[in-house]
Amino acid sequence: MSYIYKVGIVGAGIIGKVHAKAIDGIEGAKIVAVADPRREQGEALAGKHDARWFRSYTELLALPELDVVILATPSGLHPEQTILAAETGKHVITEKPMAITGDGATRMIEAAERAGVRLAVIFQNRLTGDVYRVKRAIEAGLIGKPVLGSAAVYWHRSQDYYDANGGWRGTWALDGGGALINQSIHTIDVLQWLMGGVASVQAHIATLNHNIEAEDAASASVRFNSGAVGSILVTTCARDDHPTRVEIIGTEGRICIENNVVTVFEGEGELSDALLTADDRETVRGWTPGEAFGEGHRRQLRLIFNALAAGTIPPVPGREARKAVDVILGIYESARTGMRIDITSSGLEEY
Ligand SMILES: NC(=O)c1ccc[n+]([C@@H]2O[C@H](COP(=O)([O-])OP(=O)(O)OC[C@H]3O[C@@H](n4cnc5c(N)ncnc54)[C@H](O)[C@@H]3O)[C@@H](O)[C@H]2O)c1
Repeated sequence: MSYIYKVGIVGAGIIGKVHAKAIDGIEGAKIVAVADPRREQGEALAGKHDARWFRSYTELLALPELDVVILATPSGLHPEQTILAAETGKHVITEKPMAITGDGATRMIEAAERAGVRLAVIFQNRLTGDVYRVKRAIEAGLIGKPVLGSAAVYWHRSQDYYDANGGWRGTWALDGGGALINQSIHTIDVLQWLMGGVASVQAHIATLNHNIEAEDAASASVRFNSGAVGSILVTTCARDDHPTRVEIIGTEGRICIENNVVTVFEGEGELSDALLTADDRETVRGWTPGEAFGEGHRRQLRLIFNALAAGTIPPVPGREARKAVDVILGIYESARTGMRIDITSSGLEEY
């Protein structure tokens, strides 16, 4: 790759630092600017990467050499920040969740399309070797007809975690919810992708062990587009972090994925690389079971910059990434109204 993309990191918190470290290992990209209203954080990250610090995001966007912004800010800010970047001709890479409302997601996708820039959403857990092998194994019928699909996230998050950095986590306005939309969205995304999309949900949410506005525990009953059924069970009240789990029962087998690694495969044939297409192999290249946190970011960012250089669609595009958001928003609406909620983006073409 000969061109070096000039990148601005927006938000110098936990995940902004992960992005900055990941970009350092990518030949075709260089950090030129960091925006964060918290001077100490912003200057420290910028200084480490020989980049300029800006207090204000709009000042960062005014840099003429900037090609790409990475949004590592509180989730509720992603739509307006995406739209501003698109309007100034910058490609956008945003952290999950891309948005915390359906309207926000739609406006982001439309703004990028209108401006002719790319919008990629970080979903590093989907882009892993075992998740891709399972996807292709299900498509090849190796577990027969999938009848049940479940996702479970039992994690521990302290009150200090929720109170940090102005206390945006667990708020409706900036986090868009709690355990579902922040911690569990990766696992919900993997479940909905493997099962071929969610048609409807019926749910309960609760705030049981933290002083936050939104839920720290949730349970949802799911109907998939295929007619199969399943469940989503999540909490941040567990004593410890347990492995995330996606389990799929088919008429001819069973698959269990824990922390993105297959721990059970019972089916016809083998779960091997022979199931993967050439594109799949490229997508999951470099993945190893149990990879360290941050390595998935580097792999996805590398795929995104390669796609920008090639003029192809970078993973995971906004239209695909909104599906998990829509499932979660459906769960919130169901919990609020007591009704079963249809998921409107479920019929969209698969990425
Ligand atoms: N992909 C993953 O595995 C993963 C993991 C953690 C967090 N995230 C996502 O990353 C995002 C940030 O989470 P975090 O844990 O890093 O939060 P954080 O609180 O640690 O960092 C957010 C930073 O954004 C800054 N900020 C706030 N408003 C800003 C603005 N207008 N312009 C520029 N900077 C601003 C804050 O000062 C803070 O430094 C969230 O969307 C979260 O869901 C993703």
